[in-house]
Amino acid sequence: MNSIQPVNIGLLGIGTVGGGTYTVLTRNAEEIARRAGRPIQVSFIADRDPERARALSGNACRITDDPFAVVADPAVDVVVELIGGYTTARELVMRAIENGKHVVTANKALLALYGNEIFAAAQQKGVIVAFEAAVAGGIPIIKALREGLSANRIEWVAGIINGTTNFILSEMREKGLPFAEVLKEAQRLGYAEADPTFDIEGMDAAHKATLIAAIAFGIPVQFDKAYVEGITKLEALDIQYAGQLGYRIKLLGITRRRQDGVELRVHPVLIPEKRLIANVEGAMNAVLVKGDAVGVTLYHGKGAGAEATASAVIADLIDVARAATTDPDNRVPHLAFQPDQLHDLAILPIEDAETAFYLRLTVDDKAGVLADITRILAGENISIDAMLQKEAEEGKGTTDIILLTHICREKHANAAIGKIEALPSVKGAVTRIRLETLGG
Ligand code: NDP
Ligand code: HSE
Repeated sequence: MNSIQPVNIGLLGIGTVGGGTYTVLTRNAEEIARRAGRPIQVSFIADRDPERARALSGNACRITDDPFAVVADPAVDVVVELIGGYTTARELVMRAIENGKHVVTANKALLALYGNEIFAAAQQKGVIVAFEAAVAGGIPIIKALREGLSANRIEWVAGIINGTTNFILSEMREKGLPFAEVLKEAQRLGYAEADPTFDIEGMDAAHKATLIAAIAFGIPVQFDKAYVEGITKLEALDIQYAGQLGYRIKLLGITRRRQDGVELRVHPVLIPEKRLIANVEGAMNAVLVKGDAVGVTLYHGKGAGAEATASAVIADLIDVARAATTDPDNRVPHLAFQPDQLHDLAILPIEDAETAFYLRLTVDDKAGVLADITRILAGENISIDAMLQKEAEEGKGTTDIILLTHICREKHANAAIGKIEALPSVKGAVTRIRLETLGG
């Protein structure tokens, strides 16, 4: 790769993840180039259905139904393998490596089965095989294990690492929906594997657990040694009984280092419902990592789906671009963006922050007080989300009102609070705590 030209991507497969990757690469092109040091562009796409590729990319790049033409193309710098499976995909990845191309893949099945041979070939050829998207979708768990936690002796990793089965278990528990119906919905939403038996029988989670174990403990990938039990034998009755005992049932991938070896297993598990991981619902994934120095850390986010997975694929592409083209002594820019690409965006003063508020006021217990307060809030364009009025204590003459507002500008809240505190019926200062829902 030369350091002025864009990085040219050969994209194999433009289905759920390939489509998401194309969309996000295009939408965030400018920001991605500022981080990577140069543009990253899809120059060649292969898919069984070229029309699928055409519908998304128009005439922006070359399109073929022959993936081997892409891996052989001298103009392609990085091959992104998103067709899945481990027959053609294996051949394509090995061919790409032979041709001296870096590879980014989301294909955990391929790596869990043939990772040792693929990594050895890549090592010999001096190319990168990056696979963040292969484990836990959009959660950067590989980077966390390989880089962020690299000071630690990892003791164990346990996680919800299959979105489809977590979605099925959540929907069955919360809505009482039958298994087959929820599985169909997971397929419609693009979470499930091409063959969903891989999800429901635990194989997909075991592929991922195998990769996690290798990275956590520095062992070769050994999928054939994993214990695998899916959710197909789980009965709704047991989900209910577990609930009555204060537990949730989740399909976990678990790998633990012991004196005498490594546990590597996937199966349904009862987890106390007060644990954070027990409350991870839908297609979300969560991974707990226990390191000897840091203790237990938790990583949570979307484990499947087009753009969430694309997020991890593209992060790998940026890593590849940086590794191949930027200053080798300073691979990742200190501030994430290339030094000459930093923008001078202003940090906003707190008065311009946008947040919701919890407000507690002590007021005279008499008619009309609440109307005055709501009028002041409305005058500042602040709407009320919820309200609680405590019953006045006998003989006290005052009572507490607790208000939750919708999101507003801090300066409007300040103005409203000033006016409220000036009301004769309001006693003392208004207690305010900012409220963030932190939803998606
Ligand atoms: P899709 O089936 O949606 O997309 C795969 C695409 O590749 C399809 O368009 C398919 O065409 C095409 N394709 C398959 N084989 C060939 C071939 N030999 N030549 C040309 N085109 C081919 O799969 P996903 O996008 O869901 O998954 C892709 C990979 O990403 C898999 O390895 C999967 O495990 C992994 N992954 C998926 C996630 C998700 O949320 N979906 C999350 C994380 C990883 P056709 O449909 O006609 O066969
Ligand atoms: N089928 C997988 C899942 C896709 O449901 O988690 C993400 O790897």
